[in-house]
Amino acid sequence: MSDQLIIFDTTLRDGEQSPGASMTKDEKVRIAKILEKMRVDVIEAGFPIASPGDFESVQAVANVIKDSTVCGLARALDKDISRAGEALKNANSARIHTFIATSPIHMREKLRMSPDQVVEQAVKAVKQARQYTDNVEFSPEDAGRSELDFLCRILEAVIDAGATTLNIPDTVGYNVPEQFGNLIRNLRERIPNSDKAIFSVHCHNDLGLAVANSLSAVLNGARQVECTINGLGERAGNASLEEVVMAVKTRKDIFPCETKIDTTQIVPASRLVSSITGFAVQPNKAIVGANAFAHESGIHQDGVLKSRETYEIMRAEDVGWSANRMVLGKHSGRNAFRTRMQELGVTFNSEAELNNAFAAFKNLADKKHEIYDEDLQALVTETGQEAVNEVIKLVSLNVCSQTGETPNANVTLKVEGKEKSAQASGGGPVDAAFRAIEAICHSDTELQLYSVNAITSGTDAQGEVTVRLEKGGRFVNGQGADTDIVIASAKAYINALNKIITPSERSHPQLGDV
Ligand code: KIV
Ligand code: ZN
Repeated sequence: MSDQLIIFDTTLRDGEQSPGASMTKDEKVRIAKILEKMRVDVIEAGFPIASPGDFESVQAVANVIKDSTVCGLARALDKDISRAGEALKNANSARIHTFIATSPIHMREKLRMSPDQVVEQAVKAVKQARQYTDNVEFSPEDAGRSELDFLCRILEAVIDAGATTLNIPDTVGYNVPEQFGNLIRNLRERIPNSDKAIFSVHCHNDLGLAVANSLSAVLNGARQVECTINGLGERAGNASLEEVVMAVKTRKDIFPCETKIDTTQIVPASRLVSSITGFAVQPNKAIVGANAFAHESGIHQDGVLKSRETYEIMRAEDVGWSANRMVLGKHSGRNAFRTRMQELGVTFNSEAELNNAFAAFKNLADKKHEIYDEDLQALVTETGQEAVNEVIKLVSLNVCSQTGETPNANVTLKVEGKEKSAQASGGGPVDAAFRAIEAICHSDTELQLYSVNAITSGTDAQGEVTVRLEKGGRFVNGQGADTDIVIASAKAYINALNKIITPSERSHPQLGDV
């Protein structure tokens, strides 16, 4: 019997710490649902003390997720832990993850605390967390640059205090695989009560070694890996879930453990996270990149046609790459639509939400004969709950673009119920449309990112546009989809504007007043 490797996904917490990747509550719930469908063991839903929005998101995820454990992050502080406990109150299975830095540089420069004080605070935090749940994880932040003797001392103390998972973070991505694996083995061997807790790892990718370090730790006894979809995360990101899971599955001969992950959900989850955050997946990215299973060279193609195993170590369908499937069309009814959406893990909170999405579907079906799963996913992104509360709405857009002429756009918006129109010219049709919108909204934002993706193949495919706007250091992403990419762009821009006018205060989890 091989051990279980626990998959702890932190896309909604560390992943959200990628600059520009902030997600709304509804978006987090959608991602949490696909993670649950994928059979992720633990979903770290956020950092409840960071902001009221973070608190509500963790609470919302805790309310809907039934099969995965829902986790909230907390510094080793009373106020953080009680906030996390409160946010997780309704979870079927709740975990509190508390952390304090243990490296000499962090203790001296950031915390300005002595090692004795750090141990005392860690123990107190774990005991307090145990009052809310018996599932408590402790992380010595910057463990990868901490002294081994001190790590042994603090970890032994927190196990005695009730920690059930010990997570060893390589916070700054400084370690290399052999060294990190040895660290895990040494900790397990030297801490007298180490058998009372599960060892976990949390590796950052600053040197491109996050997955290699995590796997080396697994070979040395770690039985939980913290990771994110598409490797999203602070700076260069975290270990990518899809790579860790597929390495363990593909190399059963090397790894003495297995995960419970339904790997066919990997590509759909990757797409969802990419479309919500606006972080495109590079084509050559392992497992989820568009080229991951594409063979260009004639020799390779010939080999694969004769026997797939000649050049493929995994099957594309096992990670969720499937041929585009036509699922619905112009004549499909509301029930067929609702049923297919349910199969895709999308449930509607109200009849109004369903009606909204169904109207958008009918509209699309008029323009596009074959509607694929990917088109349906894009509809949800666009007609999600925030769209219902939108302050700015697109009424009409008319863009004129022809060779030798400056493109010109006329736009009519409904702003808080009042129709307003403006026209503008620009360097291209999209630029003209954005300028016309700005002539009405005067948002004082800066465009940080504009990306277009074809959702499916064919010239009648919908273009899915992501727009990232920045205002006063705050970043938001907006999405829009349409068979006309200028209209998709305008929708994405307006979606971002609607988000940026919603106030939000969010502090960075690893900063602050510990
Ligand atoms: O990178 C890190 O150290 C973290 C901790 C909070 C686990 O994200
Ligand atoms: Zn981290």
